[in-house]
Amino acid sequence: MKAAIYPGSFDPVTFGHLDIIKRAASIFDELTVSVLNNTQKTPLFSVEERVKILEEATKDLPNVKIDSFSGLLIDYAKSKDVHVAIRGLRAITDFEYELQTAQTNSMLSKGELDTMFLTTRLEYAYLSSSSVKEIAQFHGDVSQCVPDFVARLLYEKFGQA
Ligand code: PNS
Repeated sequence: MKAAIYPGSFDPVTFGHLDIIKRAASIFDELTVSVLNNTQKTPLFSVEERVKILEEATKDLPNVKIDSFSGLLIDYAKSKDVHVAIRGLRAITDFEYELQTAQTNSMLSKGELDTMFLTTRLEYAYLSSSSVKEIAQFHGDVSQCVPDFVARLLYEKFGQA
């Protein structure tokens, strides 16, 4: 069975992430989307909230599972016996960081974990969770960035429900 992990912060998931999830799910038999529990960042949504949001947003994709992890991606992937990590590339600005991370993961895992990049569709190339949060914070329209239920949760977080 071909399996892959799509790791990320997903704070919150955007249409860009969802497009990568759908496309990766059509390539692999099983895709685990996993939320990093990063103790060094203060996210808007807790790990539990992000997992729930992802579960709702991917409920129509039967071969997609949602999970969370802490620590190194290579250790998490090994524990799941998965050898491919998926990452989306939006623009050249993502490339340097993503290349370095992919090569570090390859070195750390002694070649056991490969990274496969899917290029973000042009219509989502500008999207980031950070800009979505900033737009929502100032009452802007995020309807083209995230599913409606995520937009509602964002406005709730910023006290405009
Ligand atoms: O959505 P993001 O924040 O760009 O995702 C980054 C993520 C979670 C994929 C990356 O930070 C990660 O895998 N962190 C786990 C720690 C790790 O394995 N670091 C080693 C690579 S330098």
